Amino acid sequence: MSDRIKAPRGTFDVLPDQAQARAEIEASAKAVLERAGYQRIETPTFEETALFARGVGASTDVVQKEMYTFNEEGGESFTLRPEGTAPVCRAYLEHGMHKLPQPVRLWYLSTFFRRERPQHGRYRQFWQVGAEAIGSDDPAVDAESILLLAEILEAARTRELRLRISSLGTPDTRASYRAELQRYLRAHEGRLSQEVRDRIDLNPLRAFDADHPGTREVMRGAPLLLDRLRPEDREHFDTVLALLEGAGLAYEVDPALVRGLDYYTRTVFEFTSDALGAQSGVGGGGRYDGLMEQIGGAATPGMGWASGIERILLASPERAAAAPPLDLFVAYASPALKEQAFRLAADARRAGHAARVELGGRSLKGQLKQADRAGARFVAILGDEGTALKDMESGEQRDVETNTVMHHIRR
Ligand code: HAM
Repeated sequence: MSDRIKAPRGTFDVLPDQAQARAEIEASAKAVLERAGYQRIETPTFEETALFARGVGASTDVVQKEMYTFNEEGGESFTLRPEGTAPVCRAYLEHGMHKLPQPVRLWYLSTFFRRERPQHGRYRQFWQVGAEAIGSDDPAVDAESILLLAEILEAARTRELRLRISSLGTPDTRASYRAELQRYLRAHEGRLSQEVRDRIDLNPLRAFDADHPGTREVMRGAPLLLDRLRPEDREHFDTVLALLEGAGLAYEVDPALVRGLDYYTRTVFEFTSDALGAQSGVGGGGRYDGLMEQIGGAATPGMGWASGIERILLASPERAAAAPPLDLFVAYASPALKEQAFRLAADARRAGHAARVELGGRSLKGQLKQADRAGARFVAILGDEGTALKDMESGEQRDVETNTVMHHIRR
C-alpha cells in the first residue's frame, strides 16, 4: 500500500455532522441580509493578481506573504481570492452597477485562501459571509451594516462578543498622523522596548499593542489619530456612533484599532469573542471610499464587512446534529422483491416524501434495524406473501396492498 493522502495543512473537510450547524448560520445570515435589501453576489475563486495587489495594498501581509498566486503561459498572473471586497468592487465596475439605485447592497458566502500559519481558528482555506454597500458615504450606511453583523452574530449566540470601532479618516490625515507619531516615539525612544524601537519606521502603530511597561507608559501620552481627524470625518464618525447608540448596540471606541488591509478610510470596526483565544476576530470591516479608484474606477464610496464562518462556529454553543427526517423505509424479504421495493421508494420520493430503500445488501433483520436507527416514521416490508406497513411511532403493523402504501403514510 502506498502512503495515505491527507488534506493539505490548514484546510479541513466539512463533514455531514457539521454541515447542519453551518447551514443554520448561513440561513440566518441570508435572512438578516436579504431583509435589509442585500442581494447575493458570487465572484470567481481566482482573479487577476493586480486586483489584490492594488486593491488590498502591496504593503499588507496578505499581499506580501499570504497569496496563492499562479502564473499562466503568456505572462498572466492569477491569485486565489484572499478576501471578497476587491472582487465585489471589480464586479460593480465591470457590470456598470453605478447605474442602479445607490447604494447597491451585495452579500456573499464563499471560500477564501490565505497562506497563513495554521492554528486554532486560522486556516488556509476558510469561509466568509460578507456584505458590501456601495455608492453612498452616508454614515447611516456604516451603522446599518454594523448592526446587521451584530444581528447575525447574536442570532448565532456568539459568546463574549465585543465591538471595537474607530475612524481612520483620509489617507492624507493618516500619513501626517503617522509622521507625528514617529516623531513622538523617537523623542521617547529610550523608554520603548527594543521591538517597538525597531518598528518605528515600518509600523509605528504597533506600539499601541505593546505589553512592555515602559512602552505602555509612553503610549498613554501618545497623539491619537482620532484627535487629528478632519472636522467632516470626525462628524461622520460621531454620527455613526450616535446611530449605533440609538439602536442600543454597545461598542468601545478603540483609537488603536488596526486592520490588516490597506483600503480602509473613515469607519473601521471589529467584533471579537474572548471565547476564541488568540484568533479572536469573529468579523470586521469598514469603509473603503478610495478602493474603486485604486482598481481603475471612478471615485465611489463603499462600506462592508466579512465574518469567518468557522470563527462563528467556534465562538458559539455547539449545536446538536439531528438526523434528517425519514418518512418511509422500504425493506424487502428476498432479492426477487428488490425491484418492486426500489420502485416504491422512488415513487414515494417523487410524491415528496423522504424515502429510502435498502442498498447495503442487508438481511431483512438488518434492514429493520437500519430503519429504526435512521428514525423512519413508517417501514414498508415487502414479503413473498404480501406487504406489511409498520407505524414506528405506535408500533402497529398491518397488511396492506403495495400500491396503497403511499395513501396510508399520507394519512
Ligand atoms: P478580514 O478581517 O481580513 O477582513 O477578515 C474578516 C474575517 O474573516 C475575520 O474577522 C475572521 O473571522 C475571518 N478570517 C480571516 N482570515 C481567516 C483565516 N485565515 N482563517 C479563518 N478565518 C479567517 C476582510 O476579509 C475584509 N474583506 C472585510 C471587509 C469587507 N471589509 C470591508 N468589506
